[in-house]
Amino acid sequence: MKTLFEKIFSPEQMLSSAEHLEPYGKDESDTGFFAPELVIFPANAQQVSDAFKICRSRRIALTPCGARSGKSGGSLPLKGGVVMSFERMNAIKAVSVEDMTAVVQPGVILKHLMDAVEQKGLFYPPDPNSLEYCTLGGNIAENAGGPRALKYGVTKEYVLGMEWVTPSGDILQVGKKTVKGVAGYDLVGLFVGSEGTLGVATEITLQLIPLPKYVKTALLVFPKVMDAARTVSATLANGLLPRTLELFDELSVKAVDGKGISFPPGTGAALLVEFDGTHEEGLMEELASMDGFASAHGCTESWFAHDESQRQKLWATRRTLSTALRALRRYKVSEDIVVPRSQVPEIIERLKGLGEKMNFPVATYGHAGDGNLHANILFDSPDDRPRVNQMVDQMFRWTVELGGTLTGEHGVGYAKRDYLSLEQSQPLIDLQHQLKKLLDPEGFLNPGKIFPDS
Ligand code: LAC
Ligand code: ZN
Repeated sequence: MKTLFEKIFSPEQMLSSAEHLEPYGKDESDTGFFAPELVIFPANAQQVSDAFKICRSRRIALTPCGARSGKSGGSLPLKGGVVMSFERMNAIKAVSVEDMTAVVQPGVILKHLMDAVEQKGLFYPPDPNSLEYCTLGGNIAENAGGPRALKYGVTKEYVLGMEWVTPSGDILQVGKKTVKGVAGYDLVGLFVGSEGTLGVATEITLQLIPLPKYVKTALLVFPKVMDAARTVSATLANGLLPRTLELFDELSVKAVDGKGISFPPGTGAALLVEFDGTHEEGLMEELASMDGFASAHGCTESWFAHDESQRQKLWATRRTLSTALRALRRYKVSEDIVVPRSQVPEIIERLKGLGEKMNFPVATYGHAGDGNLHANILFDSPDDRPRVNQMVDQMFRWTVELGGTLTGEHGVGYAKRDYLSLEQSQPLIDLQHQLKKLLDPEGFLNPGKIFPDS
């Protein structure tokens, strides 16, 4: 395999020993290990294009990857072959204060971009909780979201244009570098979120906004998860738009209790809420109104972050939640369903009942403000898997029935491909198959993702 690429890649740009390949066979989806035969590290779009052409002509599976922090198995090399890692294309090429844009390579770690633009008074809002290590290329592939999506939207809202390498090896400039621009079809809209199946970004132009001057953060504690869920609905229905409105249910509280912050006994849920803007007093007023809605719904304690270090402590608690839950049991299935916000209390109630009925702990937490919940089923043995799958199936059916979608930010990937038809009609799936076929008739690029194997 390696010899095929020796004309294009230097020996330092390739890994082929079992020990080096191992980390590239898994991600954070817990869906298994799939060994590649070779990992290549392109340095530019031309090398990406050349490698695509080799794999395409020989029908070798090629799976692109970022930091392998994905939760749906999008970067797993299901069919072996070649993994193309973008970790060495990690330059922030420009940050323009006047244009309010940044130009980055796909391997840039999100936090590095955030720090670079914030130093200049600018703001890149999408904030997946893996921001310390996930990459912009992966964010583009999955159209990543995060807590701040409630007010600011997800990755696609910030992508103006991209240098994009198609599966046939064409290097295209899609989109534009300006804020406005409607020439031709919206291919940026199609490619962002295409989960590495329609090509890859080798350079990305991002839109930035001014950094909000003030941020006010509070953690609200409730005896019951339904109280917190109803507070979310009441807050939004009364015209307040925090930048984040994150929910912890009882099990989620338990998972992080005492690690950084300690919750009072009897805590059954919590909300992490944050307002941002230009006028400090206005934000304090908004936070006080929110606190009022919370008290009316049973909130027993409100903790306000008085400085940046207190604020970071609250967020550290939130960011470790996914890993903290994993530590409770041997296995964890983590979903990221979305329901219309009005249905958040209903789905939480149903999931709680389902967990009790099936006798598996279900932890529900996440971006309740935009209806995007991480429902985590915890279990101890692979033998439990069929019953866990039954629960996942039921969860997805309810989600769709309530007007929702299977995935708000993690993608379909490998983990959810068998469920897509619960949400989408056959003609719609067929149309997407045709698009894939048009761009990648051989089906060599990231095979086995989004759609079930035919
Ligand atoms: C989170 C990841 C799992 O919100 O999306 O923690
Ligand atoms: Zn999330």
